[in-house]
Amino acid sequence: MIYLGIETSCDETSVAVWSHDTLLKEITHTQIPMHAVFGGVVPELASREHLRKLDALITLLQKELGKDLFSRLDLVAVTRGPGLLGALLVGIAYAKALALGLGIPIIGVNHLHAHLLACNFSGAITYPALGILVSGGHTHIYQMTSPHSFVLLGKTLDDAAGEAFDKIGKILNLPYPGGKYIDLLGQYGIANPKLFSKPYLNNDNCDFSFSGLKTAAYNYVQKHNIPVVNYNNLELSAAPQQVKDLCATINDVIVETILEKTRRALALCPETRTLCLAGGVAANTLLRQRVDNFSQTRNINFLAPPQKYCGDNAAMIAYAGMQLARSNRSSALDFEAIPRGRPLPDDYISNPFIEE
Ligand code: KG4
Ligand code: ZN
Repeated sequence: MIYLGIETSCDETSVAVWSHDTLLKEITHTQIPMHAVFGGVVPELASREHLRKLDALITLLQKELGKDLFSRLDLVAVTRGPGLLGALLVGIAYAKALALGLGIPIIGVNHLHAHLLACNFSGAITYPALGILVSGGHTHIYQMTSPHSFVLLGKTLDDAAGEAFDKIGKILNLPYPGGKYIDLLGQYGIANPKLFSKPYLNNDNCDFSFSGLKTAAYNYVQKHNIPVVNYNNLELSAAPQQVKDLCATINDVIVETILEKTRRALALCPETRTLCLAGGVAANTLLRQRVDNFSQTRNINFLAPPQKYCGDNAAMIAYAGMQLARSNRSSALDFEAIPRGRPLPDDYISNPFIEE
């Protein structure tokens, strides 16, 4: 069985092919340099760039895997949502046309679930698992009882962790995306855990709210005259020590907040066997270390995708599609794209083929 995956939900155009349990090839075109000029993703530009690049990437896949690739495909998996609506539509329209033309099934994949299932790239997830999904648009905690059963225990009420990182990066004039650079610079700084309170802990739920942290960081930078440097002409390592210390503090406060909510989720799901950490922010060095250490103290298996597969990629979409197909699921050809903020319907239909 050969599975094609297509990902166009945000600022990466990505295609990948799995054969049984082997990733044959993944090709990703990142739009980050294009959006960096604007300090964030411009949705209209993202859609246009997906439209410009997607077919070229598929052609490259054919070059790498053989001109007869299309005739060997058994299924197309594509990100259905959540994501930027125009960006999603590009991938979905392409995937539908391909599936229709080749007469093969299609599966619309939940992007967030796919991020978490990519933990299988590092080792086998044992269920029940707890899924911590931290990305640019989402901070979700799920109870996972199988590769296709996700129960949402907590979510972000405003800014996601990645969004908070990126907005604070912008306040400090760091390159885009800020999360990556706050992680890097923080490694050369000393955190002051007393500087900011951990946001939205004064409750008994597993939800998150990071927008106040962004405002607190802004006020701190203004009040203490933290130097805001133009990094275009400067090596990042030459950043002022105050900036490095502030980055270490931001890393610490975000990571500790995520850990506290993880503790609460674990109290709700004491039978958890694996702690899965995924999404773009799962690339964060401190977060990986602390969630790993925490899992060890609880005797729970810890899994995060290799850093290369923390951000958006089609390998995880094809892989999630493969899991769904194996449980006899596929999508009707008229499925809609689901933008951020709307839950994905569980409207799979039965799969017209059974994997040999
Ligand atoms: O999952 P992703 O690639 O896209 C979405 O689906 O949102 O996540 C992108 C987010 C950005 O906010 C970026 O700043 C953050 O992941 N990110 C990081 C790191 N690398 C990427 N945040 C913290 N530390 C990192 N090393
Ligand atoms: Zn993502």
